[in-house]
Amino acid sequence: MADGSLVTTFDPYAVRAQFPILSRQVNGKPLIYLDNAASAQKPRAVIDALVATMEGGYANVHRGLHTLSNEATEAFEKAREIVARFLNAETSEQVVWTKGGTEAINLVANGLGQKTGKMAIQPGDEIIVTEMEHHSNIVPWHFLRERYGAVLKWVPIKDDGSLDMEAYADLLGPRTRMVAVTHMSNVLGTINPAAEITRLAHAVGAQVLIDGCQGAVHATPDVQAIGCDFYVITGHKLFGPTGIGALYGKAEALEALPPYQGGGEMIERVEQDRITYAKPPHRFEAGTPPILEAIGLGVALDWLSQYDRAAVQAHEHALYQHALDRLQGQDWLRILGQAEGKGALLTFAVEGAHAHDVAQIMDRYGVAVRAGTHCAEPLAKRLGVTSSTRASFALYNTMEDTDAFVDALIKARNFFV
Ligand code: ALA
Repeated sequence: MADGSLVTTFDPYAVRAQFPILSRQVNGKPLIYLDNAASAQKPRAVIDALVATMEGGYANVHRGLHTLSNEATEAFEKAREIVARFLNAETSEQVVWTKGGTEAINLVANGLGQKTGKMAIQPGDEIIVTEMEHHSNIVPWHFLRERYGAVLKWVPIKDDGSLDMEAYADLLGPRTRMVAVTHMSNVLGTINPAAEITRLAHAVGAQVLIDGCQGAVHATPDVQAIGCDFYVITGHKLFGPTGIGALYGKAEALEALPPYQGGGEMIERVEQDRITYAKPPHRFEAGTPPILEAIGLGVALDWLSQYDRAAVQAHEHALYQHALDRLQGQDWLRILGQAEGKGALLTFAVEGAHAHDVAQIMDRYGVAVRAGTHCAEPLAKRLGVTSSTRASFALYNTMEDTDAFVDALIKARNFFV
């Protein structure tokens, strides 16, 4: 509840009723929204908070001495505290606002590339990523390979979609500087053992960045339990606005990073021939920040936190399992990723049909799914597919949504036989 207490019985229909968009029609059919891993819909609480802020409490933050600016600053910094609580960070100073998960990872990678930073990468330093990473957790590290001679090492996946932890342990060594791993794969749904990955990396003196863009939604983003140096979230998958995300960093990890962008608010002093920088998190927040978006994300996380995480995960998993059960034995369907304990998304290839065509036909039945390589081309190559279709479940989805999805998928498949 908004007062911080927990809703005791999880009722997806009551959740659903809070999302105005879910009652609309698409192509003359009720909307069945199963593209949640790309972007989740927004509850009334977030919509109302954005409108209320614009109508009654908006001004620039950290700059003004007037009442409105002070109120906006308070709401903005309160949102940072909510993120810190959501991630179980020690303090809100460990939370840097970014425009999303991608910017958060770029901020860290950029810091490793700066010669002025204590963390400057040297030629031959190694960065470990996995075969299941999203491009946002690959390309920034490729920049370090291209520009500074870093070496990228890839942890393979097993056929069920789980990470090959033995191979990972073998890749770690004295040159490993950074291990950058997704908490949950946006394609396979695999939830990686983030704490164990971190423990092994720290044993060789490497830092760890966990991409929590999916994991913060479907797993447990407890940064102290994981022990990682950096953890990344994005707001729009957490029922908040777009244009906002956050980078959590351990105090010493953030302190060691040089500034990312230059401008107002990230400095301590600026003179004609010298400059000193603000402490984290403000050192990384040049210019006017995404004020409304940060406040909206705070409201979204408070809204989400009223629900028991285990109950939500059980509900989403039941939806996934129901879809899987109904599709059992369909020999035209290849399901990608069935690792133990995976999160609630179902990615598949339909024999003889392009994933884009499948998604477009399903859209005619009101079912919104994603298709393509899901910004994970190395994974598509590893799986031997050029594209796939993905249904991703959220707490507001129901068994009826799941049945509508399976029915539409079977109809789509029938176009190709
Ligand atoms: N990363 C988002 C997805 O997996 C966009 O769909």
